[in-house]
Amino acid sequence: MTSSEFAGFYRLTPEERLRFVGEFAHLDKTELDILAKSSALKIDTANRMIENAIGVMPIPLGIAMNFRINGEDRLIPMVTEEPSVVAGASHAAKLARSKGGFRTSSTRPVMIGQVQIVGCASPEKARDAILASTEEIVRKANEQDPILVSKGGGAIALEAKVIQTIVGPMVIAGLLVDCGDAMGANAVNTMAEAVAPLLEKIAGGRVYLRILSNLADKRLAQARVTVAKEDLGGAEVVEGIINAYAFAASDPYRCATHNKGVMNGVTAVVLATGNDTRAIEAGAHAYAARSGQYSPLTRWSKDANDNLVGEIELPMAVGLVGGATAVHPIAKIAVKILGVGSARELAEIIAAVGLCQNLAALRALAAEGIQHGHMRLHARNVAATAGATGDLVDKIAEKMIDERKIRIDRAKELLAEYSRST
Ligand code: MEV
Repeated sequence: MTSSEFAGFYRLTPEERLRFVGEFAHLDKTELDILAKSSALKIDTANRMIENAIGVMPIPLGIAMNFRINGEDRLIPMVTEEPSVVAGASHAAKLARSKGGFRTSSTRPVMIGQVQIVGCASPEKARDAILASTEEIVRKANEQDPILVSKGGGAIALEAKVIQTIVGPMVIAGLLVDCGDAMGANAVNTMAEAVAPLLEKIAGGRVYLRILSNLADKRLAQARVTVAKEDLGGAEVVEGIINAYAFAASDPYRCATHNKGVMNGVTAVVLATGNDTRAIEAGAHAYAARSGQYSPLTRWSKDANDNLVGEIELPMAVGLVGGATAVHPIAKIAVKILGVGSARELAEIIAAVGLCQNLAALRALAAEGIQHGHMRLHARNVAATAGATGDLVDKIAEKMIDERKIRIDRAKELLAEYSRST
C-alpha cells in the first residue's frame, strides 16, 4: 500500500483508519496498541518530561490524507483540538494531486546562538576583535559537542554586530551552528555559554544573555504547489484566493488570521512529532515581520494558464533526535508514519502542510465560506450530544444542515422521529 489517496477515509471507524495507517507505515503490534489507547503517555514518562506532572491531557491525533510531496505519497499525523483542520488539509492535498502535489526544499539546519556583551569601551573595536577571533571561538564551541561535529554538524561560523538600545550600545555575537537532525536548542545554548568567557576577554566587556534565537532565518523550509483552476472550481476561485492573499499582504489584521491558518497545519505536525510548537510559532511570526511590515507566510499567484501557484517559506527548527520526539511514544510513531529520515525532510513536509492548510482556508473563504465545513462537524457533534449513534449521527446532521437549524433541541426531535420510524 503506497497511495495516500483514500476517498471517504473519514467514513471509516477509528479502528479501520488505524488498520490502514498501520499497513501504510508498517507499524508493529506494539505501535498499533499504543495508538489505540488514548493514555499511551504513561505518567512516569510525563514526569520525566516536565516538572510537577500530575497527569496527561490527550488531544486528538488525526491523519491528513492525499498528500503527495516530491513525488512520494505521505500520510500526515496531525495533533489538534480544532475541528476541520485535518479535513481541510486532506481536501486541499487532494486538489493539489493532479498537478503533482507539493515540491519542497530547505537550507542547511543552521541555528543562531546569541551572546550579549555590554560595557565595551569601543563596541565597534570589540565587534572587529570578535570577528578576527572567529576560528578560536568556533573551535571552543565545537569542543562542547564532539558527537554533533562527528556527524557533520557543529559551529560553522560567527557573526557580530553592534546594536543601539535604550541602555546604550551592545555587541551581539551570533554563533552559527549546524544542528543536523536535532532541533538544537541544547547544543546551541551549551556552546553559547561555553564561548561567553572567551568573548568577554576578547571584547573587554561583560556577557549577560547566552541563548539561541528562535528567529531561525538560516534554517528555512520552502514548499511550492500548483493547483489546476478546474480542480478549484474555476477561475473565479483562483481570483478569490489571490485577492485573499492581497488582502493579507496589505492588512495586518487579516494577515494575522491568514498566518494563523498556515500555523493550524504547521503546529499540528510539529506537536504530533513532539517538537517545540512555541519555537516554531515565534520563528514563523518574527520571520513574517522581517521587512518591518507583518506579512503573509505564503504567496499566491497565477501561472501562464491561470492555474493557482502557491509558495511558502518559513523558519523550521524541528528535530528528530532528542527532546520529546525521542521519548514520547506517540511522537516516535508519528515520525514513523511520516516516513522521514532527516530533520530537513521533516521540516520540508511541515512547510508543505502549512501551505496546504492555507490553501484549504483560502479556497473555502473564497468559495462557499468557512462555516460550511465547520458546520458539518459541528452538526455531527450536536447530533451525537443529543444521543444519536451510528448512521443516525450523519443522518441527523445532514437534515439539520439542510434546514439550517443546527441546535440540540432540533437534534433531539429528529432523533425521536428517526428512532420511531426504524
Ligand atoms: C481558522 O482556524 C483559520 C482561518 O481563520 C484561517 C483564515 O482565515 O485564513 C480559517
